[in-house]
Amino acid sequence: MKFRNFSIIAHVDHGKSTLADRILESLGAMGERDKRDQTLDTLELERERGITIKSTPVRLNYTRPDSSGHGGEEYVFNLIDTPGHVDFGYEVSRSLAACEGVLLLVDASQGVEAQTIVNAYLAIDSGLEIIPVINKIDLPAADPEGAAQEMEDVVGIPAEHAIFASGKTGVGVPEILEAIVERIPAPSGDPEGPLKALIFDSVYDAYQGVLLFVRVLEGRVSPKDKINLFSNGKNFDVERLGTFSPGLVVGKSLEAGEVGWIAAGIRDIVDAQVGDTITRTDFPTSEPFPGFKPAQPVVFSGLYPTDTEDYRKLREALERLKLNDAAFSFEPETSEALGFGFRCGFLGLLHAEIVQERLEREFDLDLIATAPAVIYRITLTNGEALVTQNPAQFPTRDRIELIEEPYIKMSVMLPEEHVGSVMQLLQERRGSMVTMNYIGRRVELIYQVPFAEILYDFHDRLKSISRGYASMDYEIIDYREGDLQKVDIYVNNEIVDALAVIVHESKAYGLGRKVVDKMAEVIPRQMWAVPVQAAIGGKIIARATVKAYRKDVLAKCYGGDISRKKKLLNKQKKGKARMKQIGTVEVPQEAFLAVLSTE
Ligand code: GTP
Repeated sequence: MKFRNFSIIAHVDHGKSTLADRILESLGAMGERDKRDQTLDTLELERERGITIKSTPVRLNYTRPDSSGHGGEEYVFNLIDTPGHVDFGYEVSRSLAACEGVLLLVDASQGVEAQTIVNAYLAIDSGLEIIPVINKIDLPAADPEGAAQEMEDVVGIPAEHAIFASGKTGVGVPEILEAIVERIPAPSGDPEGPLKALIFDSVYDAYQGVLLFVRVLEGRVSPKDKINLFSNGKNFDVERLGTFSPGLVVGKSLEAGEVGWIAAGIRDIVDAQVGDTITRTDFPTSEPFPGFKPAQPVVFSGLYPTDTEDYRKLREALERLKLNDAAFSFEPETSEALGFGFRCGFLGLLHAEIVQERLEREFDLDLIATAPAVIYRITLTNGEALVTQNPAQFPTRDRIELIEEPYIKMSVMLPEEHVGSVMQLLQERRGSMVTMNYIGRRVELIYQVPFAEILYDFHDRLKSISRGYASMDYEIIDYREGDLQKVDIYVNNEIVDALAVIVHESKAYGLGRKVVDKMAEVIPRQMWAVPVQAAIGGKIIARATVKAYRKDVLAKCYGGDISRKKKLLNKQKKGKARMKQIGTVEVPQEAFLAVLSTE
């Protein structure tokens, strides 16, 4: 059988899922699943947010048309989807490692964006053949030639190689299918050699345990083989395996060049890490596939049930989510203010938001989330080293010799006219410029920025000052020393450990002020005045007061309109749902995120 393994890469919203659907449809693969708008995006949340989180491969049969001069020749295509967001960059690189080529999609009305460039370089680094596709040419604002020229200028792919297409109308799809055959190399690798297979994704199945999504690079694997995982040395027995059609199709073996799934009685998804190499214990390869990195959370936040009774329910929900997400971590944590909860780790902010939303929606939990934090490396005055991502656990200033924080390399693509304001924003965030490249009338800025500085509202600010035209991508590069301080927050003269934040010295006062003002605004008025204070090392730097006031919503209804009364009471009850009792004061969720809004 002749195989072609490829992936589609694009900037968010450039039409990857739509084009993938059109390709599936033209090869008769729709209908095997529910004929939904976007077949490749599976999770409900993905569909709502229009982003791809989990990669789902599809196997397709292609027969070349007579017009190709090779009429009737048959091919098997494996289309491997890639996640479409900066949080999932490593997963993208592993999905690409399972392919020989990519379709690099660019929206004809938008042109090259930050993730177009980053993804293109990932593909080039993996030695893949790139087929440039200028998509959405049906749009009135489309400028296909311009976009193709940008691709040439920025990525170095000749403009005349580009295929003009529309996932909406289907234009260009036959040309794309032919290009996949003509331009993407057939997989190499000896099926008679020792087994070497790359895990590019894994999912949890309630009946079969963890399913490994693999690309076999060399050798062959069959049911009953004993397989070995390189990263942890564990052995498992292959129970079943097969291909994707889409949907799981059981097969007899998988061999070099093929993409498929393996069920081997693996119970814990942490044993099935993306990027790991599988081999056979009776015929092992000596060299794993290079570049394995265990999934490592880089953003942390505390999650607490608003109702302490829900602690067990929350733990069960976290365990359920963890089954399917090796990149997500959690451990119990106790906060004096919030009680029992969990410290959770994520790949990035979007990942954190997705997990939190799923907990609330699928598991019907009301949660309080503390402000997200990064990992800090601390050297104590006594020479000991400490790694923590929890501001509440920071040692006191007199015990700290130095603190190091993670830095990212960020690339931003934007129209020329916004360069000044974006550079100013990056400077406010303690960024330093590495380079600036002109691409037509747009500019690519490369900066190094402390990761913590972009956690909160950076993306929103970037979008608003560039009127939506700037796009960004980033990766963590190293740790550097910083003048960082812990700001504590007191409510009603009690310290609220869960509200502590780590911030650069130059910003501590401004942040303290902002947080107490915001808190005074969102904490409901009480029967007595409640002071809110920010402090560094016990020294008060800002203070505000929640004024005394008795909230009596019913006072508004003079008449005896009972339904209106009920409505108001309900409204008040709803407003209470996300409150947390701290001492004698009820603090709403917004207060915990007060630190996030810099406006
Ligand atoms: P991610 O999964 O987040 O990376 O997004 P995506 O790249 O898969 O984009 P998606 O296919 O969801 O399309 C984004 C938007 O563009 C949707 O509103 C689509 O309806 C629209 N769209 C996609 N392809 C075309 C096209 O060829 N023409 C037009 N006019 N609109 C398109």
